[in-house]
This record gives sequence, structure tokens and C-alpha cells, in this order.
Amino acid sequence: MTDNTIASLEKEATSVENQFQSNVANITANPTPKSVDELRIAYLGRKGKVSALMEGMRHLAKEDRPAAGKAVNNLRQKVESAIEDLIIKANEWQLQQKLNQSPLDVTLPVKTQTNTGSLHPVTLMRRTLLREFRRLGFTVVDGPEVDLDFYNFSALNFKDDHPARDMQDTFFIDGRDKTVLRTHTSNIQIHAMLENSPPLRVVAPGRTYRCDSDLTHTPMFHQIEGFIVDERITMGDMKGVIDKFLKAIYGEDLSTRVRPSYFPFVEPGGEFDLQCVKCRGKGCRICSKTGWLEIGGMGMIHPNVFEAVSYDSEKYTGFAFGFGIDRLAMLKYGVTDLRLMFEGNKQFLSQFPIHS
Ligand code: DAH
Repeated sequence: MTDNTIASLEKEATSVENQFQSNVANITANPTPKSVDELRIAYLGRKGKVSALMEGMRHLAKEDRPAAGKAVNNLRQKVESAIEDLIIKANEWQLQQKLNQSPLDVTLPVKTQTNTGSLHPVTLMRRTLLREFRRLGFTVVDGPEVDLDFYNFSALNFKDDHPARDMQDTFFIDGRDKTVLRTHTSNIQIHAMLENSPPLRVVAPGRTYRCDSDLTHTPMFHQIEGFIVDERITMGDMKGVIDKFLKAIYGEDLSTRVRPSYFPFVEPGGEFDLQCVKCRGKGCRICSKTGWLEIGGMGMIHPNVFEAVSYDSEKYTGFAFGFGIDRLAMLKYGVTDLRLMFEGNKQFLSQFPIHS
């Protein structure tokens, strides 16, 4: 300041205000936090232009100070509020800058997960079967895959020279032919009957093994066994159960039938068929033109089996049935090559649903 009069101070204040306005005009279109802070320091900082004006007041005559103070304060408030506005704008600019750097488009569709698993067709069929059998009042049990000859054969009334015991069919897993990989799920009949007293209503799915491998057989396959033991159980009950679960799975319009057959552990024994799911009985390639598909074996439990588990065969009767799950799954899902069922090919498996 050149002299210490109020007039010169006011002039100086006007000049500071003009400079400030022009500085603001320069950055107002694009204020950055840095440029606004520089401006703040230049005017409001300890050595800033507004602070210098305050300082200059000390040299004024006492009576001039109130008026001068008012003018300088006025200017200070103007500068402060202008800078506050600029700070808000600068923060917005900074935020915008960040958003531009990492654009986040919340409207983009999410990436779909392409690698989720799905259920194996055998699992799907097993769950479907168990659901239907539970509905019919059956309890689900499990049994050993490695078992003694007693459970897999002798207690089921297989005579010592029965061909099923032959090395070609059965995987024996010790030298004395006493322990086998079960050849069917019928071994569970014996375990369940020894562990429980009648009445019994049981189904048991599981892996089974036979020394057999060609286009329609694999050394490991899946079966499900079912049986009921109670007083006055008849062939009619058996036909009813078989008819009910097959229709529940493949459709009410299909018929089922029972043919006589032989299995050592049932008498009388039979096999049950379902009308072809493909041609609905007309005859096609799937059913070899017969109109029928062979599903499994069944029969009234043999008194010798009851004897092996110490059930009173005078008091109790029962029926048993057993069949393969793999072929049912193939029929249900239209799979034509058995090998596909066990190759673990992801492309094949991914066609099946995640839920049953
Ligand atoms: N276990 C027989 C098989 O693997 C199937 C079977 C037939 C089971 C008759 C039964 C039955 O319970 O009564 O070929």
C-alpha cells in the first residue's frame, strides 16, 4: 500500500476483488481441487491478499477502522463463499474423473456361470424312484457293496453250484471265494431282514458289479431292490406296487405286465415289463418290435430265504423286486448308448438339470 488512508485501502480492496473475480472466472469452468486450493491460499492464506488488507488496517486512523473493517470483512466473506462453491464443484469434477477412469455399467447383464455342475441321469432317476417309493410308504436303506457270499448268494437260496457264482459273473475279492463285489442289490434283503423284524417295507438302491462288458453291459451298474414282508402279502400287492411306480414315472397311459420266470430267492418268480415308452406299445427299434420293455425281476419271497433270516414263513409272506436303474434313466432321457452313462463326458452331462 502506498499510503495509509481509507481511500487507498478501499481502492486496494476493489482491486483485490476484481483480481479475485477474474481468477475465479478463469477456473470456474473446470475447477480442480488443486487450482481451488491455490486460489484459497493466494487470497485467504496467511500471506494472502485478503489477509494483507486486514494487516493494512492497522495503519489507518482509529476512526476509519470500523468502516474499513466492514469493507474488508465483506470482501473476505465474498471470497470465502465463492471458494466454498468452487470446492463443491471441484469435488464433483474429481468424482467424475474417477468414474470416467473405471467405468462401471450397472445396467450390464451379469456374466452367466457356465461351469455349474448338473445331476447325473442315474442320480436323477434314482431320486425319482425313491420319491415314488417313499410315497408308497417304503423306507430307503443302504447296504454293503463288498459282501460275504452268504448275503449275496447262500441266504438267497443260491445252491452251491448255481451258475451265478461262476468266476465269469462274479468278482471275487479274496482267494477263498467268500467275499464278493455284490452282483445284485438283493443282498440288502438279507441284511435288512436280519436287522429288523416284520413288517418291513424297504427299497435299497446301489452299485452292483458283474464281470461283463459289452455294448449293453458295464462291469459296474446300478440296481434298486424293494421288498415287503407282512402278514397276508399277495401277488396282487406286488402287481399293484409295480404298476403304480412305473406309471408315476412314465405315464398313466402305459400298461405293465408280469411274466413267469425263475430266480432262486422267489417262488413263484417273474419278470415285469412296461409298455414301450417310445412307441407306446406299437412296436419299434427300442422294444425290438415287441411293444414291451423288460424292466426287472420279482416274485414272492422263498420260504428258504425266510428260514435263513429266522422269519416265520407260516405267518409272514412277502414279495421282492429288483431292476436296473441305468436303463430306466436311458429310456427316460432318451440316451441310446450305455457307455455315455459312465464316461463322465462333461458335454453329455451338462445337458441334464441341476435339480431333480
Ligand atoms: N437280483 C435279480 C437280478 O439281479 C433281480 C431280482 C429278481 C430281484 C427277482 C428280486 C426278485 O428281488 O424278486 O437279476
